[in-house]
Amino acid sequence: MHFSFLALASSLSLLSLVSAVPQPQATTPPSTVTPPDRYYLKTKVIDGGDKTKDGFYVTSYHTGAGLDDAVLEVTTEHAAKGFLNATYQQFDFNTRDPVSINTGQQTVGFYFNETGLQWDYAEDGFAGWIVCDWWHGLPQLFWKYNFYEYLLPCSCAQVELHPVAV
Ligand SMILES: *[C@@H]1O[C@H](CO)[C@@H](O)[C@H](O)[C@H]1NC(C)=O
Ligand SMILES: *[C@@H]1O[C@H](CO)[C@@H](O)[C@H](O)[C@H]1NC(C)=O
Repeated sequence: MHFSFLALASSLSLLSLVSAVPQPQATTPPSTVTPPDRYYLKTKVIDGGDKTKDGFYVTSYHTGAGLDDAVLEVTTEHAAKGFLNATYQQFDFNTRDPVSINTGQQTVGFYFNETGLQWDYAEDGFAGWIVCDWWHGLPQLFWKYNFYEYLLPCSCAQVELHPVAV
């Protein structure tokens, strides 16, 4: 298939952080790894991608109206403190409600295994995490939609997200 940056952008731009909305529990998938009680999510570039995207921590960039983009910074100073609440990947921002990763699809189905944070949405197209240089002047986190064979923009790298104890 041909390269379409717009298709990529629209399928990737759904990832944001919003106040958690309760949803039905997903079943716990097999071979999970229990993360630390509180952790930062750290990138590890895979598939020979751009190594300059290695070792970044997920943090949040406030974009308004309760929405935050998941961006990445090199230090843990502003990094989001994550925790797993059942299969919600949530973050502790000292707000009233826990903040969940919102992929635009569902907020449940998260777990860890040896290759880091997984999202149990594969049959619906989840194919891993991607970091790209984007609008905020910081690399931004996206998820890869499996049903398009697009080339990634050259500023993007496919990453794993590993928990690092706070
Ligand atoms: C776990 O997530 C649910 C759903 O978002 C929320 O209602 C509950 O307060 C969370 N628990 C903790 C300990 O954050
Ligand atoms: C972790 O889970 C993903 C998604 O199911 C899978 O592709 C990957 O191989 C698993 N990693 C390990 C080390 O089992």
